[in-house]
Amino acid sequence: MTKAKLSYGGKDYDLEVMEGTLGPKVLDVRKFYTDTNMFTFDPGYTSTASCESKITFIDGEKGILLYRGYPIEQLAEKSDFMEVCYLLMFGELPTREEKDQFVHDITYHTMVHEQITFFFRGFRRDAHPMAIMVGVVGALAAFYRDSADITDPHQRKIASYRLVAKMPTLAAMAHKYSTGQPFIYPRNDLSYAANFLHMTFSVPCEDYVVSPTLEKAMDLIFMLHADHEQNASTSTVRLAGSSLANPFACIAAGIACLWGPAHGGANEACLRMLGEIGTKKRIPEFIARAKDANDPFRLMGFGHRVYKNFDPRAKVMSKAAREVLDELGVDGHLFEVARELERIALEDDYFIEKKLYPNVDFYSGIILKAMGFPTEMFTVLFALARTVGWISQWGEMIADPVKKIGRPRQLYTGPGMRDYVSIDKR
Ligand code: ACO
Repeated sequence: MTKAKLSYGGKDYDLEVMEGTLGPKVLDVRKFYTDTNMFTFDPGYTSTASCESKITFIDGEKGILLYRGYPIEQLAEKSDFMEVCYLLMFGELPTREEKDQFVHDITYHTMVHEQITFFFRGFRRDAHPMAIMVGVVGALAAFYRDSADITDPHQRKIASYRLVAKMPTLAAMAHKYSTGQPFIYPRNDLSYAANFLHMTFSVPCEDYVVSPTLEKAMDLIFMLHADHEQNASTSTVRLAGSSLANPFACIAAGIACLWGPAHGGANEACLRMLGEIGTKKRIPEFIARAKDANDPFRLMGFGHRVYKNFDPRAKVMSKAAREVLDELGVDGHLFEVARELERIALEDDYFIEKKLYPNVDFYSGIILKAMGFPTEMFTVLFALARTVGWISQWGEMIADPVKKIGRPRQLYTGPGMRDYVSIDKR
């Protein structure tokens, strides 16, 4: 067993060095506080492995993303979202029979309790759909109490299936509610992606045929967003789950975290930014703003905590954007602005030095807009796709015999102990 040595205050401390299958070695500091009476300091957890996991691996320097060992590019080309869900949840690609059974089980959990429609009606029509999702997904715990016992592996599985199956239904309902159109029930003869498009875009008064191009693009977008190891929202799900809270509440916590523009909200922010830039001529002005330390503006869809190279998902997404725009014959104006922005930024010393590359959100907004989704739905789609990753990570944590409640410590820099001063003496 390899050990690292720390010398402090005339004493030597041994720290075990742990090794995973891939990725950097990890220093075991679990007994650090007991042994040394010191904490480690790591705001934003840039150097901290918060758990052991077998699900997803990222090499940010090389731009590699693996789901259970399989490169995302191969899955994007050869697999589909249902297979990826099975892979993330159970660790292996399914056999034909396993896949058929899984697709059947997910399909037959897509309907939501009818009373949930009343819950929806409590929201204002102009509510952001992410606000609705945070509320409604958390509220599933009130509707599905028969799968909220986390100590029972069968209930955990049913809750996981319910979440993956019902997210498209709830996401489509959030969209329908804001447009004032009636909710559309799921259809069991459609694929996961096609059913979501059907529930989002069809109306009861006419037939709606799901375009195979859009179905394929939707499935691809779901696959690319399915998991991304211990990002902010996944860590939030794990932290919420570490108190043994029910899975519906934990996923609602993940959705809340994903909402922010530094995380899942970036695709919405990126599209707004591209619209604001408007023409290729204005790109230098925005690049200059992004580089100005006194200007809070950042190029949305650029940079990543882990990737210091191309986000492999951005490459797949860029190709898919071109195909979708061509197929739909949609004006690719914003796509051209994005391509030019990417080209200029990648040649700029500031972005090169700071290793800022396009991330998955840079092109996803363009495709989603072309497909007809309003901007406010973008992060909802991310949450829908990421639910399988969240629930797989949650399931892994709950099944781990050495789980512990998450409880970070702090470096306290507030006032020392002082006596209370009565109000007339302040
Ligand atoms: N535009 C301009 N400068 C940037 C950008 C950007 N998009 N991103 C980082 N920088 C600069 C920072 O100003 C900082 O400069 P400094 O060292 O001179 O202070 C340096 O690069 C490092 O930035 P940090 O914020 O410290 O890096 P961190 O790893 O904490 O942040 C993050 C990563 C939040 C994604 C950041 O790059 C960002 O804000 N990007 C834009 C938002 C975005 O696209 N988010 C989506 C992330 S992917 C996802 O959630 C699916």
